[in-house]
Amino acid sequence: MSLATGLPPLTPDEAAHGDRLEARVREEIAVAGGWIGFARYMQLALYEPGLGYYSAGARKLGPSGDFVTAPEAAPLFSRCLAAQCEEILRELGGGDLLELGAGSGVMAADLLAELARRDALPRRYLILDVSADLRERQRATIAGTMPELLDRVAWLDRLPENLVGVVVANEVLDALPVERFVVRGGTVAALGVAIRDGRLAWSEGPATDRLDSAVRRIAREAGDGWPDGYVSEVRLELGPWIAALAAALARGVMLFVDYGLPRREYYAPERSDGTLLCHFRHRWHDDPFVRPGLQDITAWVDFTAVAEAAEGSGLEVAGYTTQAHFLIGAGMDEFLADLSTLDVVRRAELSRQAMLLTLPGGMGERFKAMALTSGYDSPLRGFAVRDFRHTL
Ligand SMILES: C[S@@+](CC[C@H](N)C(=O)[O-])C[C@H]1O[C@@H](n2cnc3c(N)ncnc32)[C@H](O)[C@@H]1O
Repeated sequence: MSLATGLPPLTPDEAAHGDRLEARVREEIAVAGGWIGFARYMQLALYEPGLGYYSAGARKLGPSGDFVTAPEAAPLFSRCLAAQCEEILRELGGGDLLELGAGSGVMAADLLAELARRDALPRRYLILDVSADLRERQRATIAGTMPELLDRVAWLDRLPENLVGVVVANEVLDALPVERFVVRGGTVAALGVAIRDGRLAWSEGPATDRLDSAVRRIAREAGDGWPDGYVSEVRLELGPWIAALAAALARGVMLFVDYGLPRREYYAPERSDGTLLCHFRHRWHDDPFVRPGLQDITAWVDFTAVAEAAEGSGLEVAGYTTQAHFLIGAGMDEFLADLSTLDVVRRAELSRQAMLLTLPGGMGERFKAMALTSGYDSPLRGFAVRDFRHTL
């Protein structure tokens, strides 16, 4: 059953935008003979130039947008992350910081501020984001809060070569397109998109060899007890994406934070409808077809897949833990130590942030941090408190 009822209404401009994107999807479905895979639909809905959710003018992040991320909700997140970046940059004897998918630019501005305070600024702060629209917003955010550091920031169109430094990405893996599948009677089928009764709708199609073998592998490792008709998703482009990053990083550490699970938990029998979620004005629901181009579409991250892709690309998985343990290890106590010196309002605000970021059963546990390294053997403070690599 769809949860997409009672969503806030669209303005006429938004409705017209949604119609243009839907027309683009319909055209592609027609050209493809009546059916496209879900990853292609997600690519169009989120990233089609000038039309997709991330490529066009929607507000997206923040209170007046559709969803709020940890660095948006709590600057303490970026301050702790800065402490981890400082450790790495000092160990490397300096380097660059590359942020993937920088959203509104809030994390970049807060990271730069905290690194400047610690006298540990990277040589350059590089940002690679697929959204041209968000790049402008990032520039405005950084110019508004850290104008003196703007000349250190550069926006890239592609991955750099021979990077030495740190790569950070918060909630980017979950935004990479996924294929959706169903397993019935031992056969794997793709759940894609077709037109039914004049509307975009789920429709089964044949699985490609790549999808079939990826799902069969997952089923071997985690499929014990899957009910017939088990539905979930798999991110087939993750491997090439991580491989490209591995090729770019000559020496240093990649830090990914996202909501996700080890494979055996992700594909547990009881999670029989996958993890696909859509966000529109702070409401979440499960129908990716109601607001094409106007809502975010995400799926959780299979961190075992990230680890496998990393190892297959010559990277080392140097740590995997919950967001709470990562932030505490990175140095959250340092920021909370002088709570008693703050006035009551600031004390309450900092406590709110710490609680939000570390809450068990909430953000603190659902979100995980993973470190992938290249030519870097030193310990990472963010993974010193608890390391859950054995669960992958
Ligand atoms: C959910 S938002 C997270 C934004 C920000 N990191 C935060 O935590 O607030 C996802 C971001 O990733 C970007 N993105 C999506 N796919 C990407 C890719 N393949 N490479 C770089 N950026 C990407 C989007 O444009 C957007 O800025």
